This record gives sequence, C-alpha cells and structure tokens, in this order.
Amino acid sequence: MDNPIEQIKERLDIVQVIGSYIEVKPAGRNFKARCPFHGEKTPSFMIAPDRQTWHCFGSCNEGGDVFSFVMKYENIEFYEALKLLAEKAGVELKKLSPEDQKQFGILYDINDAVKDFYQQELQRDPKIMAYIKERGLTEATIKEFELGFAPQSWDAATIYLTAKDFTAPDIERAGINFRTDRGTYVDRFRGRIMFPIWNHTGKTVGFSGRILPEYDKGDAGKYINSPETPIFNKSRVLYGFNKAKSHIREMKFALLVEGQMDLLMCAQDGLKNVVATSGTALTADHLKTLKKQTENVMFSFDNDEAGQKAAERSIDLAKGLDFNVKILLVRDFKDPADAIKAKPGIMVAYAKEAKEAMEFYFERYLSHGESFKNDPTKFKKNLHIVLAKIKALPSAVEREHWIRQLARLVNISEHILQEDMTRVETIVPLELRPKQEEVTLQAVQEEKMRIDLVAERALNMALIKEDFMKQLAEYAKYLPKRYRRIYDAATGKEAIDDPKIMDELHTVRLRAGMEMEDADPEKAAKEFVLLLSQLRQEALKEKQMVVMRAIRQAERQGDAEKSTHYLKLFDEVSKLLQNER
Ligand code: CTP
Ligand code: MN
Repeated sequence: MDNPIEQIKERLDIVQVIGSYIEVKPAGRNFKARCPFHGEKTPSFMIAPDRQTWHCFGSCNEGGDVFSFVMKYENIEFYEALKLLAEKAGVELKKLSPEDQKQFGILYDINDAVKDFYQQELQRDPKIMAYIKERGLTEATIKEFELGFAPQSWDAATIYLTAKDFTAPDIERAGINFRTDRGTYVDRFRGRIMFPIWNHTGKTVGFSGRILPEYDKGDAGKYINSPETPIFNKSRVLYGFNKAKSHIREMKFALLVEGQMDLLMCAQDGLKNVVATSGTALTADHLKTLKKQTENVMFSFDNDEAGQKAAERSIDLAKGLDFNVKILLVRDFKDPADAIKAKPGIMVAYAKEAKEAMEFYFERYLSHGESFKNDPTKFKKNLHIVLAKIKALPSAVEREHWIRQLARLVNISEHILQEDMTRVETIVPLELRPKQEEVTLQAVQEEKMRIDLVAERALNMALIKEDFMKQLAEYAKYLPKRYRRIYDAATGKEAIDDPKIMDELHTVRLRAGMEMEDADPEKAAKEFVLLLSQLRQEALKEKQMVVMRAIRQAERQGDAEKSTHYLKLFDEVSKLLQNER
C-alpha cells in the first residue's frame, strides 16, 4: 500500500485520535462523545471504529473520517492534517505520491522561496529600509517578522522562482503571479513592503503587501493580499497566531488588531499575545482557533467610525461564542501603530484601562448626552440597541449584571428595562445563525410519514438486537421501500453493491447504537412488539385507502360486481385492522 492516506488510516485508530482531543466513552461497539463542533449537553457524536468514521447526529448532522475530523477541529487545511497525522502514524511523507507533492507541497516551497527573495531585496535597498524604520519598526522586529520587499518590476519574482525550477503555472497556483489576458505571467506584488503570512504551524502560506508611498499611483489597493490557495484560507488563518499562541496562554487573553503594522508595533511594544486578521473581517473560524487558547479577547481597532463598526461586529460575534470581550481604545490616535510610534509603552497602559464590551456599547450609544428629555426618539432607539445587545448574551448572570448597570446609567428601573428587553429583537450575527435547510419539493415529498417513523425506530432496534431482527422478518414486507432496502442490506438477504445503501445502513446502525444505548431491555421488548403491530396497522390503513379508491372508481363506472368485490375486501382489511388494535 503506497498511498500515504490509506497508510495513515490503517495505522491510526480514529477513536484514539479523536480521544486525544475530546472525551470519548464506549457505547456498545461504538463510541460516543459530546460533539466538539456545536454546544450540546447530551452526546450525539458517534465514532464507529469498524468503519473508522465519525458522525454527529445533532445539529451538525455531518461526519467523515479521521482527516475531516482533524481539519475541522484544528481549523487546518487537508495537507496540514495529513502532515499532522502522518507524524502521529509514523508515516514518512516523502512517500507522498508525486501528485500530492505537486498539489500541496510545492505551494509551501514556492512561498518559502519567494520569502527569501523578498528579504534579500529589502537588504539591497537602504531607501526602503529607511521607510520601514521611519514607520517605527526596529531592525529586530523586521527580522523576526521576516519583512521583505517586492521590487517594482513585472517579473522579478517569477524569474527568481523559475530559476529555482518552479513552473509558471505552479507559481500562479501559489498566488505569487497571475496570467494576463495576453497569456503572460505578471508578478502580483510590485513595489510593496512584503509581510509573510504564516499558518498556525509557522509555514509561510501567503503575503500581505503594502505599497511603498513613492510607487503609489492610487490605482491599486494600499494593501494587497495573496489570493486564497489550497494552503491559504483567509477566514481561517490568524496573522501572528503561531508566534502569539504561547503568550496568549500565558497572559490569559488574546489581543486582536486590524492590520500588519498594528500587530508588529504591538508585539514590539511588549504585547506579544497579539494576532490580526489579514485581508478579511473577523470570522467565527478565527475565534474558534483562539477559543482553544483562551476565552478572553481584547479588540483594538482603528479609532474612526469604520473601526468602531468593525469592533461592534466583532464583539457581537465573539459574545455569541461566549467570549469575555474587552475593548482597548487608542483614544488620541488613529490606530494602535500610530499610538505606539508616538508613545512607546502606551499599549500596556491602554490595555490596563480596557473596557468591557458592554461598557463600550454604553459609551457608544448612551454617553453623548442622550437622554429621554433631550431627544426621546433617539434615546429610545439607542437604548433599544443596547438592550438587544444585552438580550443576546448567552449568560443569564451577565444579562442581569448589565441590566443593573444600565439602570444606574440611564436612571430607569431594572424591571422596566427588563420589560422593554423582552420586546426588542436580538440580532444574531449571520455567521452564528443555524444553517437553514432549503425547502425543496423533494424535501416535502420526503417528509417522514408516520409509517416511516415507525419503520425507522423498529429497524434501529432490530439492528441492535438479533432477536428483534428475527421478529422483524415476518413484518419486513410492511416496511416502506427505503427501509426495506436497508433491512435487506442488514440481513444480507440481497447482495447489495450499492455503496450508498451500505453507507446508509452504517449511519442508521450508528444512530441506533446511540439511541438504544441506555434502553431497559424489558421496556425495549414491549416497545418492539408495539412497533411491529403499528407497522402492520399503518400498512393495513394504507391498503384500506387503496381499496376505498377502487370502490369509488367502480361505483363511478357503475360496475356493481367489482364494487361488491372491493367492499368485501374492505371489510376483511377492516377486520384485520381491528384485530391488530
Ligand atoms: N487591508 C487590506 N486591503 C486594503 C486595506 C487594508 O487587506 N485595501 C488590511 C491590511 O491587512 C491592513 C489592515 O487591513 O494591514 C488595516 O488597514 P488600514 O487601517 O488601512 O492600514 P494601516 O495599518 O493603517 O496601514 P498603514 O499604517 O500602513 O497606512
Ligand atoms: Mn489602521
């Protein structure tokens, strides 16, 4: 077996791998856990060792193999998960097929090589180094964060990389150049200070480039970023996380800023627990990465309305994920970088004065002389915004605390505020809203009928207990088609080579294991007898309906003979049904 993916799966036990992240408990021949991907109290996350798969039957309703679990849990791309698991399994990745190597490995190589190139270019030009230092960065910071410079040329990076035997299409896939309409390759970054972006393991996966002022013609963004590639996902990567991780743990909070310059200046100013988003707004994925290190975040964004709006959006997202959120305001400056350049050491002082997120909202919405007396409309509107923020807090203790604070601030009694709070609508950030399933015609048609529910439950029970399976044999003819096929697959009556049905059987079996785990055997036996009877009843009812239709048709056609025949049949079915009851 030379496929490393299969090799890794062979050597690692999915139960152990998942068990190294979360607590798993045996459940029959499977294992169960509380799903790490959505909050839940009773476990609906199952692991099947025989198939080496996992499945969440809760609100996620998805599953996969050991790779998809690690990708999801660690918030990493496939190739990263491959490397991580290869190490655990002791599989050498040199054995990676040439195809895989070409797919992923080469993208890291290209980013790494071009980082060297940009660094060399920076050293060659004292004028550029002077600009960076003038912005406030020291030589040590420049070195630590591996800053570089992309020369003002159409193809310098491409030529450098081609000389190192990388092909233009691969360089394009890595995002370093792009193809013009005329079919030529052009460097993406020209005349820019280059900030390498590392993934969480410290590998360079992309760049952010700031235009050098003297080349700025205003026809391209001040900052441009690498495009998304198979190794660079903007909504997942947090800039600086690889360096900040241990400091975040140590200092028990993460400082989040908006840009490269802010991050470098903060780190230089002694706040090493700093991370930044890069080329995108903060996402739930970013926050989930942080959540594994700490529950406490501090945001410091630009001191303008855009920055405050971003802060508001980020607070709502983080609060929704149950973070403790503080806001660091750089009162007299444009942004953290500016503040630090003017007054080194100031960030630590600001951090000490950071406000609770809710205090930030009180200040933002209610501290500019707004009162009911001055401007009732505006006051009410702003008060309701704040009430909606409080209402959205997942913790009841926190809600009570802030209502009390608010009552003091606006001089309105707590219970009146509570009353208004019940009326305001909470605004859940888009990303945190449960995925709404599209209602299709098919979904409506597939809406489970009573007989489906009965059949599913009976099948679940039979899959767990052989004795039940035997009893079901006589009733199998009453199962609706879909369950009939699963039943046939389970009993091996029919050689089923449809992998879809086999997958379905597997999932039903896993779910059955979860549902039946704590069942009392005596109660289960009683329930099963009832289910079988219901199964027949439902089938007979359906038959009754069909016969009824036949009678009507015969009467319409004036066919007395047929009509009498069906009426008799109807009577027979009715009697059977009565007996069943
Ligand atoms: N950004 C971006 N694309 C832009 C503008 C900004 O990706 N066109 C991102 C960059 O990561 C940048 C961050 O947003 O670092 C903050 O933008 P801005 O506040 O404009 O940058 P400053 O840090 O103030 O930039 P500078 O001080 O270099 O002017
Ligand atoms: Mn800024």
